[in-house]
Amino acid sequence: MKILVIGGAGYIGSHVCREFLDQGHQVTVFDNLSSGLEENLFPEEDFIKGDILDAPALEKAMSRGFDALIHLAAFKAAGESMLKPEKYSVNNITGTINILNGAVATGITYVVFSSSAATYGEPKYLPIDEDHPTEPENYYGFTKLEIERFLKWYDKLKGLKFAALRYFNAAGYDVKGRITGLERNPANLLPVVMEAAVGMRSEVQVFGNDYDTIDGTGVRDYIHVNDLAVGHVAALDYLARTNQSLTVNLGSESGLSVLQIIDAARKITGRPIPARIVGRRPGDPAKLTASAKRAKELLGWTAQYSDVETLVRTSWDVYRNKAGL
Ligand code: WQD
Repeated sequence: MKILVIGGAGYIGSHVCREFLDQGHQVTVFDNLSSGLEENLFPEEDFIKGDILDAPALEKAMSRGFDALIHLAAFKAAGESMLKPEKYSVNNITGTINILNGAVATGITYVVFSSSAATYGEPKYLPIDEDHPTEPENYYGFTKLEIERFLKWYDKLKGLKFAALRYFNAAGYDVKGRITGLERNPANLLPVVMEAAVGMRSEVQVFGNDYDTIDGTGVRDYIHVNDLAVGHVAALDYLARTNQSLTVNLGSESGLSVLQIIDAARKITGRPIPARIVGRRPGDPAKLTASAKRAKELLGWTAQYSDVETLVRTSWDVYRNKAGL
């Protein structure tokens, strides 16, 4: 298929592009490189530098006869979204409306959208399945949930078929080492741990060790980015096969604590990785784990690479190489 990947130069987007290319699809990336990197582009794909807020340029790019689009273009820092909601309204929501209107105008009927476990908010039960109430705790999660609602309306009114993929905690790097771009100013745990391992930062701050979890630190469902990428291809196959929209979790169904990640990283890297317990980060739930039953049933998808060793080792390979270690 001929696929447009909006946000395809980013951390997750580049892995998604790699997987579509590996499966024989033709890929064009549309990205403004605000957080995406030229380094993440592949020679086999076309690249259009552009912004989703520039509706005419976006529609022009979309009018090249695509069968499907993958939409990963968004700001994603939950903490920042609480301080600067306007920024998230404009980019995530207005930008997506431009994309959906562009899809209608140019006849693209399949959309795979990067949604988030942040749409659920504080868990009421675990593991979280797709029927769990959606009450986002942060504005970022609200934007993702609103976009899911737009998608449902565009399906109903315009026949657009969508897959909303609710990612849990994306982590790791391409297991074949083909993607090497580092995220700038990361706030997520694994890149922070890696920066401490190579000496780019002096320590990891552990946000609280008094949660009701295995060792008191926060537990998350870390999903390897190659697994996420495979999930996108499976989701598009599903849309093309059934012509039905779907909303589905992509998670590993297992939980890792902050200290489990740091311990694994110390063993795998052989580096000290200083860590200091500090106060809880506001808005952090104690524990989040996914049910991926629906993804298994409908997409035949299960996580293959999301064990702690692969998550840490693939990240370490990239950080170690960059640091010349
Ligand atoms: C993981 C765990 C922290 C950093 C965020 C977004 C969410 C989604 C994924 C996109 C928690 C702890 C972290 C650090 C720490 N994004 N931690 N020290 O908060 O689960 O999810 O990314 O959809 O919307 O909110 O991920 O990686 O920030 O934190 O102790 O320096 O690591 O408290 O327990 P989070 P995270």
